[in-house]
Amino acid sequence: MLTGMAQNDALPGFCTWLDDSNDVTTEMMRLAGKAGMISLAGGLPAPELYPMKAIESATKRALVRWGSRALEYGPITGFPALREAIATRMSEEIGQRIGTDNVLLTAGSMQALDGIGKILIEPGETIIAQHPTYMGALDAWRPRTPHYQQFTWDFEDKGFLAAADRAKFIYTVPNYSNPTGVLVGQQDRRALLALVREKRIWLVEDDPYSCMQLDGNSGPSILALDAADRNEDIYSGPVIYLGTLSKSLAPGFRVGWVVGNPEVIRALTLAKQCTDMTGSMFSQAVALELIEQKVESQMIDGLLSTYRERRNALCAALSTHLGDWFEWEIPSGGMFVWLKAKRADLDTTRLYRVAIEHNVMFCPGSAFDHAGKMHTTMRLNFTRSAPDVLEEGVRRLARAVEDSLSKLASGSSRLAVQ
Ligand SMILES: Cc1ncc(COP(=O)(O)O)c(C=O)c1O
Repeated sequence: MLTGMAQNDALPGFCTWLDDSNDVTTEMMRLAGKAGMISLAGGLPAPELYPMKAIESATKRALVRWGSRALEYGPITGFPALREAIATRMSEEIGQRIGTDNVLLTAGSMQALDGIGKILIEPGETIIAQHPTYMGALDAWRPRTPHYQQFTWDFEDKGFLAAADRAKFIYTVPNYSNPTGVLVGQQDRRALLALVREKRIWLVEDDPYSCMQLDGNSGPSILALDAADRNEDIYSGPVIYLGTLSKSLAPGFRVGWVVGNPEVIRALTLAKQCTDMTGSMFSQAVALELIEQKVESQMIDGLLSTYRERRNALCAALSTHLGDWFEWEIPSGGMFVWLKAKRADLDTTRLYRVAIEHNVMFCPGSAFDHAGKMHTTMRLNFTRSAPDVLEEGVRRLARAVEDSLSKLASGSSRLAVQ
């Protein structure tokens, strides 16, 4: 938190939304690189699986093919050939035509979330969001000072339905949600679609994990369900779909996309104009080569079997070392296991600090709650580390739990709960 941060008396203070912010992500990124630290905190893929050789030759090919065009400023909507390739890819994926006008390329989905905040959220406006909520979305929208109405897939809930009358959009991560790993079933997807159609509001479908189906098949996206009913040449429905190469290829590309109604794409393009003017044409030109060579589909079996093994290793280690204190469900995809403490005094925000002393990191649940509560939950990542490292990380976490509880019992805990 920045509350109380010393500011130079002679200079103006910062905007008040910063008082409600947190630096969990910044700290996670910084400490994850610390020698000896085992980080179960981030949402990071396994770096040893990045297709380095394919990226190297794609880079050379992109430079030969596009020359200086790959190094210039470009259209705000993105490198034209990649924009077309994403329209084709999305059309194939959903079985309905997506036009180029339906696509905006972004610097990862994170930039799309930022743009959505700029075009849809007036200060103080209501957002309906799946709860707990991806912390990047909370971060992106915090400067707009929104109010949140959470929903739990109860379509009879009066508060939820009344909020849908006030809100402009609903935010959901239906495939293996971040942070919980929950897969939203087809019936709930259809119910949500029916609701946004009835209320005439937007639906933001954030979908970085559709490539991470560890057990079974998650079925059509909400965009696919809506587009199938419409059967249009240019999609004009209420779903604003976010895709990314971050989890299937590598996050360093910073290549993502929005598929939506052309009006949404136009508004987001204006929002993007004042963020970065244009994305990286270089990155997008290299990504195009990789997509054309179908590198992701060549990698996917290896990626999934590695992640399946790691998920199983993490869950086995949790049963051995943390089963007395926490409960969880084994996710059928994605990157995370969501833990709930069995004891009300097992505060994971406090545990987070103790765990860092034990050289292990996780993401405290409070980071995914707009109200900063959920103090007895935490998110663990299983994709980044090898099975033996996951096991050691969980062992350290168990020692941190004992340490934290004994400090609490002796009343000696002076750890800042921020
Ligand atoms: C639900 C969700 N949305 C968006 C993002 C941002 O991804 P990107 O790297 O494409 O910006 C993430 C990253 O972890 C995520 O989990």
